[in-house]
Amino acid sequence: MSFLCLDKVNCRRDGICMEVCPAGVITADAEGYPVVKDGAEAFCNKCGHCVAACATGALSHERLPMIDFLPNRKPRPETVAEVEPLMLGRRSVRAYKDKPVEHALLERILDVARRAPTAVNSQQVGWIVVEDPAKTRRLAELGMEWLRAAGHPRYVELWDKGREVFLRGAPHVAVAHAPADYTWGAADCAIALTYMELAAAAHGLGACWAGLLTRAAMAHAGVIEALELPQGRTVHGALMLGWPKYRYSLVPPRNAANVAWL
Ligand SMILES: Cc1cc2nc3c(=O)[nH]c(=O)nc-3n(C[C@H](O)[C@H](O)[C@H](O)COP(=O)(O)O)c2cc1C
Ligand code: SF4
Repeated sequence: MSFLCLDKVNCRRDGICMEVCPAGVITADAEGYPVVKDGAEAFCNKCGHCVAACATGALSHERLPMIDFLPNRKPRPETVAEVEPLMLGRRSVRAYKDKPVEHALLERILDVARRAPTAVNSQQVGWIVVEDPAKTRRLAELGMEWLRAAGHPRYVELWDKGREVFLRGAPHVAVAHAPADYTWGAADCAIALTYMELAAAAHGLGACWAGLLTRAAMAHAGVIEALELPQGRTVHGALMLGWPKYRYSLVPPRNAANVAWL
């Protein structure tokens, strides 16, 4: 059965793997056991759902080593009580402590972000993480060159008065990029950055979307060069990262959802 390996003793023939496969790659043989449909191998996007949803662990996938699957804990009542306030309490942090974030923690939030959903599980998001605070500062300076030329007098005035308005004095910035010709690049990068922002918040880190840097990275040769952006890639978003200077004691109000229920 090609890339799927089945333990027939444990297989309940419940058809779950067939139902959850997004690509319709799996079918039942004459006895009801899962097999890869003839000619459908190429449609497998290695999402791992067939293996991950199997309640008896009867299925494995040759291209997805079992050691790379993580246990998936069930949400508990406490999960809602923890996760919702985390999501609501996340703020765009614009004042950072003069203290770098340790490498292991940056790696850890990146490890969450790399697991964010991507269209057809294509996993084409690439990252540039600026770890050296001096390089982050240099990026802000280069970005301001772009902003000056683009004509944003308000930001230029604040910068010239000594206020770091471009990257808000964050010690680090994480930049997400994707192939320039990839249709879902912007969406995949935005989702991955959102995962990273929430993972950062869970560790007490501050973050803020760096829209100005994102625009500069699409337009300013100096910024693109400083980022060492690989050829053929487009930056779709970036996140300032650092330890927040202040704690917010309130969640500010936002508009009611603009929703139509059908
Ligand atoms: C921008 C985007 C578009 C997607 N569109 C579809 C879709 O139209 N149909 C679908 O079944 N899954 C869609 N997905 C889900 C992906 O296929 C899925 O995220 C990927 O296979 C990884 O699986 P996971 O989310 O369980 O990790 C989309 C995901 C993203 C990020
Ligand atoms: S890895 Fe995903 S696409 Fe491939 S067979 Fe399993 S469920 Fe289907």
